[in-house]
Amino acid sequence: MTVTEDVEIWRTSTPRTSRQSPEAELRSEHTLMRAVLASVETEAQRLARGASLRTEFWADVIDFIGNFVHLCHRAKEERCCFDTVRDEASRAVLDALAKEHKKAEALTFELCGAIESGDWEQTLRLAHVYLHAMRGHMDREESDVFPLLAARFLEAPASEEALRESFADVEEAVLPAGRRAHYVEISRRLAVMTKTS
Ligand SMILES: [Fe+2]
Ligand SMILES: [Fe+2]
Repeated sequence: MTVTEDVEIWRTSTPRTSRQSPEAELRSEHTLMRAVLASVETEAQRLARGASLRTEFWADVIDFIGNFVHLCHRAKEERCCFDTVRDEASRAVLDALAKEHKKAEALTFELCGAIESGDWEQTLRLAHVYLHAMRGHMDREESDVFPLLAARFLEAPASEEALRESFADVEEAVLPAGRRAHYVEISRRLAVMTKTS
């Protein structure tokens, strides 16, 4: 993966010294997630052609989507971002997004089980379902929710600092210090593995 400028700013920041707005932080995390999904898609194509299930590849994927996406990114959205825009956003949209988070979590557990049991067909099937679900989910957040943050902060700049603090609280609670670089490294590693096989 070529690290994009937004991901590089994110990687070299800490939750308390972030140089990004909350919207930019969430979008940077999506950029990183999309890079990992691209590698998962390539690896799934490899599996479909009859290649072996590479446990080191899928262990990194589970670390990324289980520990980073669900424990950190999802919590920033559900516990912090969605509440901030609750007055402006459609309730149906926020409820649907939260439901999609739960579905993605269940898929992650299923994927984990398939990988542990070495079931490549189930891994392939679940990878496709996850890819489709997460790409659509991120598209909806980027079009229907994230722009509301910028609009909200124009009217109430103090709330931007409050949201930034709540993001930092979440991240510090679920990730060890300096962990952002680890997840960027995973995305690089997955990209290299899928390019060189
Ligand atoms: Fe989300
Ligand atoms: Fe998201």
